[in-house]
Amino acid sequence: MKIIPYGRQYIDEDDINAVIDVLRSVWLTCGPKVKEFEDALCKYTGAKYAVAVSSGTAALHIAVAALELGDDWEGITTPNTFLASANSIIYNNGRPVFADIEEDTHNISVSEIEKRISSKTRLIIPVDFAGHPCEMDAIYNLAKKRNIYVIRDACHSIGSLFKGEKTGSCMYSDMTIFSFHPVKHITTGEGGAILTNNAEIYEKLLMLRNHGMTKDEELLTSNPGPWYYEMHMLGFNYRITDLQCALGISQLKKLDRFIKRRREIVDIYNRELGQIKYITIPIEKDYAKSSYHLYPVEIDFEKIGITREEFMLALKDKGILTQVHYIPIHLQPYYRKRFSYKPGDYPVAENYYERALSLPLYPAMTDEDVAIVIKALRELL
Ligand SMILES: Cc1ncc(COP(=O)(O)O)c(C=O)c1O
Repeated sequence: MKIIPYGRQYIDEDDINAVIDVLRSVWLTCGPKVKEFEDALCKYTGAKYAVAVSSGTAALHIAVAALELGDDWEGITTPNTFLASANSIIYNNGRPVFADIEEDTHNISVSEIEKRISSKTRLIIPVDFAGHPCEMDAIYNLAKKRNIYVIRDACHSIGSLFKGEKTGSCMYSDMTIFSFHPVKHITTGEGGAILTNNAEIYEKLLMLRNHGMTKDEELLTSNPGPWYYEMHMLGFNYRITDLQCALGISQLKKLDRFIKRRREIVDIYNRELGQIKYITIPIEKDYAKSSYHLYPVEIDFEKIGITREEFMLALKDKGILTQVHYIPIHLQPYYRKRFSYKPGDYPVAENYYERALSLPLYPAMTDEDVAIVIKALRELL
């Protein structure tokens, strides 16, 4: 039986050869491919600076660290995201505060953000859920009026457009984060990047990626010789290798093609599944062009008299693997225990979670694969 996963990478011979070339070269890490990948990311997004790191989580961690917010602050993010978006606030001694989501896009709601802002709020982390941009201009304007930073978690949305702005240009954020995990649009195995237009933040990110070290002559307090380096911040080893960056460069060349194919599949799903009574298909707002990392539908499992578990297992029997994005973060035991969150705190995200199911979506899916998924859903609903 053919297995259709919910997401997977697309690797071709060019990608493989790009990695092999690095294996035959002098530099496996800290070499020229890292900067070449960063330059390619800047060219693609329009941002001035890019720092490639070992994961999207590492990118979020040092993005927040670069802001040096101290230890008595709050960061607002969405409950409908992967753990790392909120954990990055805790890593940096902040308190994670959630703002509930919109019913239609399932992105963080601007009016809910406004309600949660306090005198301690220093940061907002909007997440472009499933690839659909948040209302970035409204969020950015609201933040800038109050001296609040914005780090856009665009781990789902490289290649998407907000009012024509390419995600990653940082027109509406201080920094923007990407992930290159294999289920994302392009992959480096594991990997991530931070984009910014701020030179000072860029310099800090370079240090934070590499133990907080610098050899920059302008920053050194003394310079006794060529071996010399200084540590100016508490950084990490979040470096990415040249092997990974060579793969990233090769993948980035195909990104627009990948997105085109994702959108073709979404069109077929929308046309065919939009007809089915108990399914709500994802929407795309006029201001947005989604790059569709995921295809999350809402299914009224109660009305059809089947649990989500039974539904997922029935699809699995047919070789179709699905996922649930996301368990609202405030319901995680760690968050409940440490921050006293409880069920009912964010009803829109909780209600959405009960009904959410992500169907297979990746560029290597054939029309036949898409037809198999649609047929299976029709049989079950
Ligand atoms: C919204 C979001 N933020 C952050 C991350 C973390 O990225 P990574 O898995 O590359 O660490 C992910 C990855 O799943 C994600 O989906």
